[in-house]
Amino acid sequence: MKIGILTSGGDCPGLNAVIRGAVMKGDRIYGHTFLGIRDGWRGLVMDDIRPLPRQDVRGLSKQGGTILGTSRTSPFEHGGSERVKEVMSKHGMDAIIAIGGEGTLTVAGMLHQDGINIIGVPKTIDNDLSATDYTFGFDTSVAIATESIDRLRTTGESHHRCMVVEVMGRHVGWIALHAGLAAGAHAILIPEVPVSMERITEWVNQARDRGRAPVVVVAEGFKPEGTDEAVSIKGLDAFGRPRLGGIGDQITAEIQERTGIEARCTVLGHLQRGGVPTAYDRVLATRFGTHAVDTVSNRTWGTMVALDGIDIRTVPLRQATSQLKVVPRHAYDEAAILFG
Ligand code: F6P
Repeated sequence: MKIGILTSGGDCPGLNAVIRGAVMKGDRIYGHTFLGIRDGWRGLVMDDIRPLPRQDVRGLSKQGGTILGTSRTSPFEHGGSERVKEVMSKHGMDAIIAIGGEGTLTVAGMLHQDGINIIGVPKTIDNDLSATDYTFGFDTSVAIATESIDRLRTTGESHHRCMVVEVMGRHVGWIALHAGLAAGAHAILIPEVPVSMERITEWVNQARDRGRAPVVVVAEGFKPEGTDEAVSIKGLDAFGRPRLGGIGDQITAEIQERTGIEARCTVLGHLQRGGVPTAYDRVLATRFGTHAVDTVSNRTWGTMVALDGIDIRTVPLRQATSQLKVVPRHAYDEAAILFG
């Protein structure tokens, strides 16, 4: 078969390891050939496609970013399924492996409904897809955030300051929860659980009263109790969704005002998506890639590879995108016992 591969949506450490895994197994075991589609769906509808031979994926599993490039383009704004079929037929492309998050997998599901041979590979640092236990990229982001918080703690302690760290997490707080727990934060604030400024102030004061420099980890999508919208001061993204960010600064100012403790905010932003993937993410991404090519070879269209315990399985694409995997309340409460 001739298989097109694309990466779409926000990038994430491990994308290249998926590409390498798929191309190597596809070439070695099945004799498939591969086409690299540039910049996600954009390359498919604009016909920006090139051969992706096995030598092009050598040594890729440790490389961050994506050699194929990515974008947040939707094919349905550029000719939809008919245009996709036209370009696929021009290149003799039998199937597509689409590596992406919720938006990409939703589009993949729609193209499948229109008769296109497609399978999905889940990626997102946010780890918010319910059909898979973990997405690659998440472990790397947590490692980067944890190391950053550890570093901020030493400077905070030297100056007796409160350090607020804003991490990514649009709808879910997995990165904040895991990095905050790993680094021993005195408060963790996530989109799923509204918390009042009074409660946050109590936690900060308790830590200070024990002689500690308080560390607060906040996910970008956190909404303090009594507010409806996450803070967004950077306009809209390509899908018309608000670009989040700014809650860290807001909370920092409030903490300083309410406690009198000098406070500083650090926004980790895209640092969490850059650089080399952790060993865990390289392994998971490689396994997703090799299983994706098995799924194509079995012609199980309209499905996505997913991690179930320690096994990789396939699930229908519609199941992959039907529900967000939020942090359950009991997981937050378990962590909150250690706050303050
Ligand atoms: O979905 C992954 C993610 O990193 C979110 O955590 C964040 O809100 C968003 O992407 C940022 O997107 P962009 O790279 O377009 O600014």
